[in-house]
Amino acid sequence: MSTITIEDKTFVKYISDEEIDKQVQRIARQINEDYKDDIPILIFTLNGAIVFAAELLKKLTIQCRISCIRVASYDGTKNSSVKNIIGLVEDLENQRVIVIDDIVDTGNTYEVVRNMLYEAKVKDVRIAAMTFKPEAYKKPFPLDYVGFEIPNKFIVGHGLDYNGLGRNLPDIYQLKTE
Ligand code: IMP
Ligand code: MG
Repeated sequence: MSTITIEDKTFVKYISDEEIDKQVQRIARQINEDYKDDIPILIFTLNGAIVFAAELLKKLTIQCRISCIRVASYDGTKNSSVKNIIGLVEDLENQRVIVIDDIVDTGNTYEVVRNMLYEAKVKDVRIAAMTFKPEAYKKPFPLDYVGFEIPNKFIVGHGLDYNGLGRNLPDIYQLKTE
């Protein structure tokens, strides 16, 4: 079993880059089908979504636009409130939006982003999340495209960080519990 250490924490290999790639392909196929008559705008949530977002983008065959926003909702391995919102510069009125995120945990971030988008008068909002923690999710909105449903344990890699580190790991690692 392969483990890594980041600062004070040990993580165990959990999902491989290859397995992620298969889910990215599956999600891309669905989006290609669902949006074949539209030109959606994909909104990447910085920083965590960049790896997943770039991989997904390259597999889309439809016409699409992209934009980025930055929201911060995490402090170490514990949730805190959503803060520091940068972005949404373009006119999104009547656009179909797909939010691209690395992980949906409590759903606080998605709720904030979704509300911002509807205030900007978009036509509709969907979300593609690389990973999703159903046990932690507290919101009523359905998640449209999900790579992996995972238990409520902290993960790093493939864009996800622990204290800013680990985003460059190709595989996803899970916090080791004794
Ligand atoms: P939410 O607002 O609770 O859904 O949290 C979403 C954000 O929290 C994500 O975009 C991540 O930045 C961060 N986050 C949640 N769970 C994890 C995790 O297991 N590892 C790393 N970051 C996480
Ligand atoms: Mg994020």
